[in-house]
Amino acid sequence: MVSKIRFGNPVPTGAVVNGTANVNGEANLRYFEKTEQGFRFRMGKKDAVYGLGEANRGINKRGYQYVSYCTDDPNHTEEKLSLYGAHNFIVIDGACTFGVFIDNPGRVTFDIGYEKMDELNIIPEYEDLDFYIIEGDGIKDIVRQFRTLIGQSYIPPRWAFGYQQCRWSYMDADAVWEVVDGYENCGIPLSAVYLDIDYMESYKDFTINEERFPDFGNFVKEMREKNIHLVPIIDAGVKMEEGYDVYEEGVAKGYFVKDKEGRDYVTAVWPGLTHFPDFLNSEARRWFGLKYKALTDKGIDGFWNDMNEPAIFYTERGIDEVKELLKPEAGRKEDISTDKLMELKWKLNELANNDSDYKAMYHNMDGQLVNHDRVHNLYGYNMTKAAAEGLEELRPGERTLLFSRSSYIGMHRYGGIWMGDNQAWWSHILLNLKMLPSLNMCGFLYTGADIGGFGSNTTRELLLRWLALGVFTPLMRNHAALGTRLQECFRFEHTEDFKSVISCRYRLLPYLYSEYLKSVYENEMMFRPLAFDYSGDEIAGNVEDQLMLGNEVMIAPVYTQNAAGRYVYLPEPMTMIVMHENGEEEKVMEKGVHFVEMPLNRVVFFIKEDAKIPVVSTEYGRKVCNDTTEGIADSEMVWLGNKNKKYQMYTDNGHSKNKKDDVSVMEL
Ligand code: GLC
Repeated sequence: MVSKIRFGNPVPTGAVVNGTANVNGEANLRYFEKTEQGFRFRMGKKDAVYGLGEANRGINKRGYQYVSYCTDDPNHTEEKLSLYGAHNFIVIDGACTFGVFIDNPGRVTFDIGYEKMDELNIIPEYEDLDFYIIEGDGIKDIVRQFRTLIGQSYIPPRWAFGYQQCRWSYMDADAVWEVVDGYENCGIPLSAVYLDIDYMESYKDFTINEERFPDFGNFVKEMREKNIHLVPIIDAGVKMEEGYDVYEEGVAKGYFVKDKEGRDYVTAVWPGLTHFPDFLNSEARRWFGLKYKALTDKGIDGFWNDMNEPAIFYTERGIDEVKELLKPEAGRKEDISTDKLMELKWKLNELANNDSDYKAMYHNMDGQLVNHDRVHNLYGYNMTKAAAEGLEELRPGERTLLFSRSSYIGMHRYGGIWMGDNQAWWSHILLNLKMLPSLNMCGFLYTGADIGGFGSNTTRELLLRWLALGVFTPLMRNHAALGTRLQECFRFEHTEDFKSVISCRYRLLPYLYSEYLKSVYENEMMFRPLAFDYSGDEIAGNVEDQLMLGNEVMIAPVYTQNAAGRYVYLPEPMTMIVMHENGEEEKVMEKGVHFVEMPLNRVVFFIKEDAKIPVVSTEYGRKVCNDTTEGIADSEMVWLGNKNKKYQMYTDNGHSKNKKDDVSVMEL
């Protein structure tokens, strides 16, 4: 059961598509009480709080505070309050179990036992919002109802379930060939290579640097012949440059975000001075979306949208404040005092992503002038909506790979997200794992982290362990930042270990793809905390480093250095699978805690006692990924687990935008 309580006059966000009757009045808040600042719930001693999508810290969010305000911050250290997405859905599980969704695209703080250990305070900066309360038969049912409310999640083409390689940047076509050949020479399967900002001419969206990538269309074609898809980046900011069509058209048509006086707002991002397209305006959205044609015409069928919080490096306002501080002080011998220097240091830190700049931006929401700060969290969402709608016109009926850095609930219908600029830290493998179920709760199913770590130098061992988690995440992409150690698998010793791990991804594809479709069409979570499946099992409720995957599997990856294995909790008897590229060992294990050995070149996971899953040989997994086949012949399928049980297999042709009825569901 869903109830909605409206406060003030909220901006339509498009998050909820299967709406409910409007129940006005604070009296309907039930579990919550209205406070001066927002809304308060008094938590029971044992209540756990799940959700918030892309957020820091634990799977159980209790004990800290989180701020929904899409933020470009590449240092995901533990004290950070905001990451790139804003996903205001939580489930409180304990004495009472219910869900809450705050549909408000401005800044919203969730203080979950931070100021007061037994209070959950939800504090919106602007109190124009829809407050949803969702009740049901346990957590999974509540999540299912919420997902029904917000509409069906995005489905990428099947090739996007293959292993993908990225780097900032492969500077030219030769560099891309080096990557493709490097993988091929080691026999490691690869499905996509990414083009980061340097494929463009001076970082101008929808251009290609012809010197670095001559005859781009042919290059794309040659890659496709090798079953490699090229995936270019598109940034939110449009470079201000005379003669650049996107800039000139945007100015002429009034499609850019404005300042208070109605002038096109100027910021600086990668290309230098830029304007931001007004993605909150439907005409501007359509205009930008159709610009992807420049690349789809060349055969491109996948994109990643970046810098769309939107990230701001600096504005004139910030620079003026810095200049002011640099002015010589009257009566001093030195140009600048120590105090001033310290102030300058802080000022420089505050140049990027500054609140004053967001407050100075205005949108034309189809006739309504809206200050950016009130709708900040809708920006990246609407960039990706623009792309998805444009791509639907450009490639009708066909799926395109599309994911974004910034997002809000609702965007899950248009594309996936990646988890942004993480680091080559062991703790970030665990953070990657923890965000998976929370994101699934909010409809984001096509997701994954930069495997190996984006910032700082990875190690062979870290990358292998991260890949052993990545084989399960729908987006499986290795990505690293400019200036870091080269991170493609073939750069390391004993590439056969990488081959073994990545091949498992392809072996698992029939299961992973089927579970993905099932999660989309049945509004299920592909990844769940153990607590969701084994309520009442106190140990399961405390496990923060293992997840249920689909209805059959449990995963428990290694996330520490020099580990021979790890402790795993089995909440029921399960079959352990130790998988490699050509086969696997199976071992039935009892419920309880076990130390499990996990060699670096193996993928270890567990199948529930009463279940089986379909896997194939590496060769066949590659075929599944390459869309050359519509089904899997029985002779090519191997079942792992309890072969006497049935499995419900979902499959489709892997590339059309299907409706639920077009999907084949078989009891095998
Ligand atoms: C941002 C993105 C990162 C990308 C870089 C250069 O930091 O998050 O993935 O490589 O910009 O485009």
